[in-house]
Amino acid sequence: MNVEREKQAAAEAAAEYVADGMTVGLGTGSTVAYLLPALARRRLSIRCVASSPRTEHAARELGLSVEPFGSIDRLDVTIDGADQITPDGWLIKGGGAAHTREKVVAAAADQFVVIADSTKPVEALRPPVPLELLTFGLSATQRRLRPVKLRGVPASPDGGVIADYLGPVDDPARLAARLSATPGLVDHGLFPPELVAVVLIGHDDEVERRL
Ligand code: A5P
Repeated sequence: MNVEREKQAAAEAAAEYVADGMTVGLGTGSTVAYLLPALARRRLSIRCVASSPRTEHAARELGLSVEPFGSIDRLDVTIDGADQITPDGWLIKGGGAAHTREKVVAAAADQFVVIADSTKPVEALRPPVPLELLTFGLSATQRRLRPVKLRGVPASPDGGVIADYLGPVDDPARLAARLSATPGLVDHGLFPPELVAVVLIGHDDEVERRL
C-alpha cells in the first residue's frame, strides 16, 4: 500500500467533480494538498473558499482564486479529507484542528465530497473527537465535557481553543447531540452521514466510490 499515491488518486478523482463556473469549498490536510494542484491543472474559472489559512495560502500559490467566506452564500461542491470514515458515512475530522470551518464549508455545499486513503475507513468510530471551545468559561466547559484534554496547539483562526473528547463514541448521533448542546463548545469533529454526498477512497490501483 502506498498511502501517498492513494491520497493523490482520491484527490484527482475528486477534482473531476468540479466544473467551470463553480463555487468550491476547499478542506484542509495532506489529502487536500493533492487536490489543489489537480484543480489548478484543470485551469477552470472557479471561485474557491478555504477552510484554513494553510489551504488558502497553498491554493493562492497555485493560482486558484480564493475569496473570503462572507458574501458567497452557497457552494456547488466542497472537497475535504477525513480522519475516520464508517461504513454508514459518519466521519471524524479535525486531526488538523480545522474542523469548525471545515463543517461550515461542507454544510454550505450542494455536494460534499470526502477524499481519503485506505487507512481511513473504520468499522466503528473511536476517540479522540476533536473539539473547538470558547476561551470564556473554558474550565467550566471542560468540566461538562469530561473526559476531555486540551491539545496545546495554537488557537483556531476564530480564537477557539482546540481540545479532544476522549470518551466513548459508540453512538455518534447521541454524542454529537450532547456535544452540540454544551454551552461553550464552538463545534466538534463528528460529521453526520447526511452531510456527505460521496466518499472517494484510494486503494492500490483504483478509487472506491461510496455513495
Ligand atoms: C483537518 O482539521 C482535518 O479535518 C483533515 O481534513 C483530516 O484530518 C484529514 O487530513 P489528512 O488528509 O491529512 O489525513
